[in-house]
Amino acid sequence: MSEKKKIVLKGITKRFPGVTVIDNMDLDIMDRDFTTLLGPSGCGKTTTLRIIAGLEQPDEGEIWIDDRLVFSAKRGINLPAVERKVGLIFQSYALWPHMTVFQNVSFGLEGTMSKAEISKRVKESLANVQMEEYVQRYPSELSGGQQQRVAVARMLAAQPEILLMDEPLSNLDAKLRMQMRAELKRMHNDMNVTVVYVTHDQEEALTLSTKTAVMNEGIIEQYDRPEQVYKNPATLFVADFMGNPQMNLLPVGVEPKDGATKLTFDTGESILLNRQVRAGRHILGIRPEDLTVSSQPVEHGLKGRVYAVLPAGSSVIIYASVGDTDLIIREARETVVHIDQDLWITCDQDYLNLYDQETKKLVG
Ligand SMILES: Nc1ncnc2c1ncn2[C@@H]1O[C@H](COP(=O)(O)OP(=O)(O)OP(=O)(O)O)[C@@H](O)[C@H]1O
Ligand SMILES: [Mg+2]
Repeated sequence: MSEKKKIVLKGITKRFPGVTVIDNMDLDIMDRDFTTLLGPSGCGKTTTLRIIAGLEQPDEGEIWIDDRLVFSAKRGINLPAVERKVGLIFQSYALWPHMTVFQNVSFGLEGTMSKAEISKRVKESLANVQMEEYVQRYPSELSGGQQQRVAVARMLAAQPEILLMDEPLSNLDAKLRMQMRAELKRMHNDMNVTVVYVTHDQEEALTLSTKTAVMNEGIIEQYDRPEQVYKNPATLFVADFMGNPQMNLLPVGVEPKDGATKLTFDTGESILLNRQVRAGRHILGIRPEDLTVSSQPVEHGLKGRVYAVLPAGSSVIIYASVGDTDLIIREARETVVHIDQDLWITCDQDYLNLYDQETKKLVG
C-alpha cells in the first residue's frame, strides 16, 4: 500500500506454561495495509493481536509502531495499551450494559470534541453499520449481531490510525456479514487507517485483505497478497488450508524431459509440464476449478470415473476416482455427468503447483 512501515514485529516469541504459542515471528505491516491473520483455531491469531495491542507481553522480540519501539524484551520496554494508540475490537466485545447505543459509541470521544461534533460522529459511525435507528436502545435489547455492529461503530468513531479486529463479524448471519465486509472495505478505502484483522474464515481473508498472513501453530507460513496466497500457496499447509472445496494434492514423479518436465502419476499416466522443475518425488497441487472434464478421451487426460456429482448452484462439484486417488473438480453448472461414468481430466498448467515431499515447500 505504501512504503512506510506501520507495525513491525521482530522475533516475537510467546510462551505459556509448557507451550510456545508464537514462535520467533517476524511481520512487517505497511501503512494502510489491511492485513488479515488467518489460520485454524488455536494457531495464535488472537495472541498475536493482543501482543500488538499491548495486552499480552511476549517473552522475546521487539515491536515497532510508527517507528517507535513499543516493546523490547531485551531493553525492558513495554508501552501500555493506551499509549500504543490503537483501536481494538475483540471476539468478546463488551458493550456497557447500562449505557444506550449512543452512549456506548460516544463514550470514548467525550472531552475530545464538541457535543455537536460527537453527535455527528456517532451518527455517522452507526450509519456505517446500519444501526442508526437504535441509538436509544440498551445492549440487552439488541441481538448478538446488532451488539457486534455497535462495537464496530464504537471503534470507527474514534478514528484511530490502527485498527485491531478479532473476528468482529463472527456473530452475523451470512448476508449481513457480506454487507459488513463491504462497509469495512469502504471504510478502509475512505479512512487513513491500517487494519490488522483476525479471522479463521478464508473467504473473509480473501475478500477483505491487501495482505494475508496464513498462520499454523504459532508461525506464519506465508505472508502475501491474498490472490498470490490462493494461486501459489508457499507450503502444503497453506495449499490445503486455502480453498473450498480443498486443493487436490497428488504424489507424482518428476523428471526432466526435452527442456520441459514430465510428471508421472501413480496410475502410470503422465503429462508434460511446459516449465522446468527440480526432479524427484513431489506433491502436485491443483485446485478443483483448474481441472476440466471431458466425456471423450483427451490426449494427456487422466482417465477417471465419476464417484459423485454435487450441484452447487453457480457450479457443479464432481468427485472422481483416478486409480486409488479421489479428485475434486469444479465445473460450469451446465456440465452433465453421471455417477460411474468414465471421464478424462485435464488441468490448466498455469495453476499447477509442485511441493517438495520432505520440506513441504513450493518448488515449482
Ligand atoms: N492464557 C493462556 N494460557 C495458556 N494457554 C493459552 C492462553 N491463551 C492462549 N493460550 C493457548 O495459545 C494458543 C493460541 O491461542 P489463540 O487464542 O491465540 O488462538 P486463535 O488462533 O485466536 O484461535 P481461535 O480461532 O480459536 O480464536 C492456544 O493453543 C491456546 O490454548
Ligand atoms: Mg482467537
